[in-house]
Amino acid sequence: MIFYFTGTGNSFAAAKAIAEADEPLISIAEAARKKEFTYELKNSARIGFVFPEYCSTVPEPVTAFIRSLEIHCRHPYVFAIITRGGVVSFAAGLLRHELAQRRIRLHYACSVRMPNNAVTYSDTPDESKQKRLFAAAEQKLSDIRETLRQRPVRPVRGGLMATVCQPVLCKSSSTVPFRAEDSCVSCGACARNCPDEAIRMEHGRPVWVKATCAFCHGCINRCPAGAIEYGTKTPGRRRYVHPDFQ
Ligand SMILES: Cc1cc2nc3c(=O)[nH]c(=O)nc-3n(C[C@H](O)[C@H](O)[C@H](O)COP(=O)(O)O)c2cc1C
Repeated sequence: MIFYFTGTGNSFAAAKAIAEADEPLISIAEAARKKEFTYELKNSARIGFVFPEYCSTVPEPVTAFIRSLEIHCRHPYVFAIITRGGVVSFAAGLLRHELAQRRIRLHYACSVRMPNNAVTYSDTPDESKQKRLFAAAEQKLSDIRETLRQRPVRPVRGGLMATVCQPVLCKSSSTVPFRAEDSCVSCGACARNCPDEAIRMEHGRPVWVKATCAFCHGCINRCPAGAIEYGTKTPGRRRYVHPDFQ
């Protein structure tokens, strides 16, 4: 079973790439919305967590989900794949810590570089760089898929830095600068796709109804009209969605 969280599809693509045939893929956002926190698995089942790195830490919806998670399984094999747009992070250590609180041991974690989706911070790579990143990521994910079949056990260390970064990110990810320009086509995709239920459609326009959000950048990147902006940071910047993601 693989639990995934994604804003723009990289982590979903990574989860699909490493999944075994018929292995269930569970969206953390959807499961949390439906309050589905209890899972019964057969002995020695494998459990994966796939999510993006946010400011060197774990997205808050992922840690919130793990804090409610009840897994009934004897001797599970647990791994994590963290997608990132740049530098290697401390996120795996925080994940190890959160899982340990639920008495779940993390056996293996690694990260895969994919295009950066944080367009409020910096531009996403152009198409030719994206192609190179996808090719390298595809190769790495195929290697990871093989490696995971051996159920490797590698100690995951650290996490203190990620613990510090997470509340800072949560506090700083204000929704106030989000706005929809007149090019908004009122499709409601932003509200439907928001993993945090932070957007509501009012009079055909999105309204951010929470002061902060997971800051997954799904709304701004996935808007079909490119109508969503974030303060003065994003006008003129490219948007990014993984090509296989709806
Ligand atoms: C709020 C935010 C913070 C991010 N911080 C980092 C970071 O610290 N390091 C990094 O390498 N990538 C960072 N990224 C880039 C994402 O981790 C990367 O693009 C990821 O593959 C996106 O996955 P997704 O498409 O599944 O949402 C950040 C993205 C967002 C939205």
